[in-house]
Amino acid sequence: MTGAGSGIGSAIADRLAADGLDVLAVDLKPAEDGPGEPFEADLTTREGNLAAVDAALERFGALDVVVAGAGFQRVSPIADFAEDDWDDLLKILLTSPFLLAKYAWPSLCRADRPRFIAIASAHALAASPYKAGYVSAKHGVLGLVRTLALEGAEAGISATAVCPGFVRTPLVEAQIPDQAEAHGVSEEQALEQVILAPHAIKRLIEPEEVAATVSFLAGPDGGAFTGVPVTLDLGWTAS
Ligand SMILES: NC(=O)c1ccc[n+]([C@@H]2O[C@H](COP(=O)([O-])OP(=O)(O)OC[C@H]3O[C@@H](n4cnc5c(N)ncnc54)[C@H](O)[C@@H]3O)[C@@H](O)[C@H]2O)c1
Repeated sequence: MTGAGSGIGSAIADRLAADGLDVLAVDLKPAEDGPGEPFEADLTTREGNLAAVDAALERFGALDVVVAGAGFQRVSPIADFAEDDWDDLLKILLTSPFLLAKYAWPSLCRADRPRFIAIASAHALAASPYKAGYVSAKHGVLGLVRTLALEGAEAGISATAVCPGFVRTPLVEAQIPDQAEAHGVSEEQALEQVILAPHAIKRLIEPEEVAATVSFLAGPDGGAFTGVPVTLDLGWTAS
């Protein structure tokens, strides 16, 4: 589980551990209260992704479920969008899931119930202004998952992209000032009018709701979901 140090990833790591899985909690800044001995890796590098996969194999002897959840966000109009931010977003949101899948593939091919689960976003299915890097990377990761589903079918590997709307995590809280500035409104207005605007049901999703979805997908009844977005977005993409 990558991105296990905070927010959605932390909730997923706790939930999968509670389900009885041995979890390697991987992050740049691992949570001290997460399950097991955390593993520190920078997932913007090839070495970091390889080290994370090797650590799971070394610790547990096999890798049955890969959950790619590390990420961050940058909000900026396209003309000001920093090229370095674009590069960094693609590295963590798209290239890391690719590398994790590539390095874990031989082990997944041997697993009894192999699953690759990317924490994508409703932004894999719909765009928002000022998020060129994030939206592009999230659309890309859905393409990756669809490809993995076809390549992994013979080995019984299922691959899905979990697509939440806005979830109550530090990643969302950090966007509020940027959105307020980009839209020229107060931070309170940015949450109500900008961030929650696409949700038909006007609330944030809780990290535990995403973790429960991943628990189902990783569990015995989740195997028929493959090559698809698994969307929990409070009605965002219904319109
Ligand atoms: N919060 C939301 O509303 C929301 C909605 C849809 C999808 N997502 C996706 O869910 C995932 C988790 O988001 P979150 O909201 O929990 O964010 P978060 O900021 O709470 O957690 C993200 C974690 O990723 C880690 N990370 C970032 N860069 C890293 C790197 N180079 N190497 C290793 N770890 C790194 C961070 O240290 C952090 O612990 C992301 O992929 C995000 O795009 C979030």
